[in-house]
Amino acid sequence: MNIFLEEGEKNPLKIQDNTFRDGHQSLLATRMRTEDMIPIAEKMDDVGFWAMEVWGGATFDTMHRFLGEDPFDRIKTLKKYIKKTPFTMLLRGQNLVGYRNYADDVARLFVDKSCEAGMDIFRVFDALNDFRNFETVVERIKANGKHFQGTICYTLTERRMGGEIFNLDYYVKKAHEIQDMGADTLCLKDMAGIMSPFDISKIITALKKEISIPIHLHTHYTSGMASMVYLEAIKAGVDIVDTCLAPFALRTSQPAIEPIVATLYGTDRDPGIDLSTLLELGDYMETIAPRYRDFLDTHSMSVIDTGVLAHQVPGGMISNLVSQLKEAKALDRLPEVYKDVAVTRKEMGMPPLVTPTSQIVGVQSVLNVLFGRYKMVTNEIKDLAFGLYGKTPVPMDPDVRKKVLKGFKRGETPITCRAADFLEPELEGAREKIGDLAKDDFDLLIYAIYPTTGKQFLKWKYGLEEKPREVIGKTLEDIKKEDDDLALAMKNISKAK
Ligand code: CO
Repeated sequence: MNIFLEEGEKNPLKIQDNTFRDGHQSLLATRMRTEDMIPIAEKMDDVGFWAMEVWGGATFDTMHRFLGEDPFDRIKTLKKYIKKTPFTMLLRGQNLVGYRNYADDVARLFVDKSCEAGMDIFRVFDALNDFRNFETVVERIKANGKHFQGTICYTLTERRMGGEIFNLDYYVKKAHEIQDMGADTLCLKDMAGIMSPFDISKIITALKKEISIPIHLHTHYTSGMASMVYLEAIKAGVDIVDTCLAPFALRTSQPAIEPIVATLYGTDRDPGIDLSTLLELGDYMETIAPRYRDFLDTHSMSVIDTGVLAHQVPGGMISNLVSQLKEAKALDRLPEVYKDVAVTRKEMGMPPLVTPTSQIVGVQSVLNVLFGRYKMVTNEIKDLAFGLYGKTPVPMDPDVRKKVLKGFKRGETPITCRAADFLEPELEGAREKIGDLAKDDFDLLIYAIYPTTGKQFLKWKYGLEEKPREVIGKTLEDIKKEDDDLALAMKNISKAK
């Protein structure tokens, strides 16, 4: 393919918009409310995106827990305005939209009800790239006639792709596994933004020869390499990329769509998207963004995190490590924790660092630094060692595994079967426990996946308890009043001087 040709065969790049999911998840702690999406929903539908990402694990969690919104209602509502563009969601394999593997009956119902609510494309990933954790959800995605996008989590052990584990062969082999499972498209997911431009060029070139399904690239701008990564991927023939509207792009989010559209204008990969429409949509996003400004990380001048180029720890994981260490009044020990993350990750079989393995390894590393290595062990690290999240990319350190599993309630000998085969059905127990508070299967799922916060949400939903002030959230008027109050205070200070 000759990208810079202005004539010749056209192969338009397809673009997925992530503004309504990963954009505000990355920048604003997933706090964007449905009511702020509605005013531009129809215009977004007219842009010509390949798909719009509107849902995922953090969305489901944050909506019911912090926003008092029904996560299923968001899909149903947006679907009324967005009729042409398919919806896509990020599904954590057997983890669904939570942080552990759920039993098969919960997984089946979850996919069925998500389809019913209006989901079209399921981007399925597993934190260990153990695709046995796809089996149950994929069966239901296919049975509902929906699109299965199989995902490989991209990770490294070296400064660039290569080494013993995560080399080109690994990604090609994993891509074949996904194609063989009947995936409609393949996604390469670089959650930490550590993919480098010339590595992606190699991968896409190889995959284009090896597999026949379209290839979709997801990355984060975190390290500053993402725009270069996209350009190299586009030149190598990637089919689809993820972007956000500029106000919700860059920093730890996706690359912005506007410069990509301008870059490709008139080439054989021109996506054919109207730039002026994008600018209008961006203007709207600027008007609602102040409402969420309390969640924007403004602690540094730099909008990229150059540290990630060295330690390769994903952004979401860093903020968790920092808050844990702050709580323990030991923030000065962060460099030690970074070092321990590399060691613990290796001992635990080199999992990619993505939800939930990023949290599991991160929490254990903090404990290792504060109390001595594996002196205190979390239940999650025990489950991981036991095989309950699946098979790790390489075997765990046998001594560490033995130590971690000593006296473990589930047993000291790890399982090797598909993780969910070990789990008892959960749905009927949940149905009994929640009783009449769940009016339908949508409610039941909220409770089955998030028992504590889900139950609380259902009480708000049905008016049994009033939503607290912080759940109702700030309006733009509140923000304006804050600014006016600040301006007044400043004025008084200068007067007093
Ligand atoms: Co992402």
